[in-house]
Amino acid sequence: MIPINKPQTDEAEVQAVIEVMRKGPITNALGAGPKVLEFEKLFAEFAGVKHAVAVNTGTAALHAAIMALGVKRDDEVIVPSFSFVATAEAVVLAGGKPVFTDINPRTYTLSPTAVEKAITKKTKAIMPVDLYGFSADMKPLREIADKHGLCLVSDAAQAHGTTYAGKPAGTFADAACWSLYASKNMTTGEGGVITTNNDRTNEILRMIRTHGEKTKYASEILGSNYRMPELEAAIGIVQMRKLPTFIAKRRQNAEQLTKILQTSDKIDLPFETETQHHSWYLYTARLKQSTEIQRNKLIEDLKAKGICAEAYYVNPIHTMPFYYENYGATSSLPETEKASKQVFSLPVHPGVNKEEIAFIGETVLNVL
Ligand SMILES: Cc1ncc(COP(=O)(O)O)c(C=O)c1O
Repeated sequence: MIPINKPQTDEAEVQAVIEVMRKGPITNALGAGPKVLEFEKLFAEFAGVKHAVAVNTGTAALHAAIMALGVKRDDEVIVPSFSFVATAEAVVLAGGKPVFTDINPRTYTLSPTAVEKAITKKTKAIMPVDLYGFSADMKPLREIADKHGLCLVSDAAQAHGTTYAGKPAGTFADAACWSLYASKNMTTGEGGVITTNNDRTNEILRMIRTHGEKTKYASEILGSNYRMPELEAAIGIVQMRKLPTFIAKRRQNAEQLTKILQTSDKIDLPFETETQHHSWYLYTARLKQSTEIQRNKLIEDLKAKGICAEAYYVNPIHTMPFYYENYGATSSLPETEKASKQVFSLPVHPGVNKEEIAFIGETVLNVL
């Protein structure tokens, strides 16, 4: 089976972990040991920002960012429902209310028009997601946020390699949150990063990461234990060096797949524009005018032929029991619901070779 995603590690990561195990420290009680600091420096350079704060998951990154930007009880945060659940979870964990808002049907990211309509007196922040690795439309979103005095927090969990107007994902946001989970374009096993250009936000994030402390046993604000261990940072340093090659290989695979699939008029393919460049975290197409059953059948048929196609995210967050009961019942999100029934993703990760991409493309055409 060709997996949908696969961590790309080799002896270099193994050696990096062994070195930390032998020499220590394996973690740091105040959040930033030497490996974490080195990793943060490399990540900030990659993201083209002043600060990168490493944490232990992408979910922790989102929660810490939402807290650091001052979202409090009953504040509303505009989020897409067509995303991984962590996007909304972070808002709820901070005491806020996720306001589920519809997407642009071609890009699957937050629709700026829908966002503007969702703003109320209680709105505190907008949280777009760079879904599948394609940037949300950051220029209009930044303008809306500035016009209404709102924070813009980017869920860049899937966006290592994404660019918008020639700049890395997250550049246009007040803070951007990245995941380093095993399936992502680079990984530390579990892990996350928050990037920001704001010195004060950076300082608060560093405190939130470790129980609100600057010095031990003197919590100044509410925090948690979101520290990244040195072991993981050591893996991250190696992965950072490889990241440009990973992204280039994903792009090459995606372009080859598009050349084959564009002969079909039954599917909408992912694309890039002059402004928006993909990270190709997921190559997601849409089976046009299909029902959920037809889409699922396509995925089953591809799996039977050894291709692990998947549908992300079949249950939009506002339809999940907890979110529906508490925040979703009044949401009307036709584009989100339609997309969730028609999209499917195909493997383009760096472990997939040219012959396999040709096989994936031809098999999809045959099955269609
Ligand atoms: C869009 C999105 N947001 C948030 C997360 C949460 O990241 P993590 O799994 O590292 O907690 C993920 C990753 O799974 C994601 O894809």
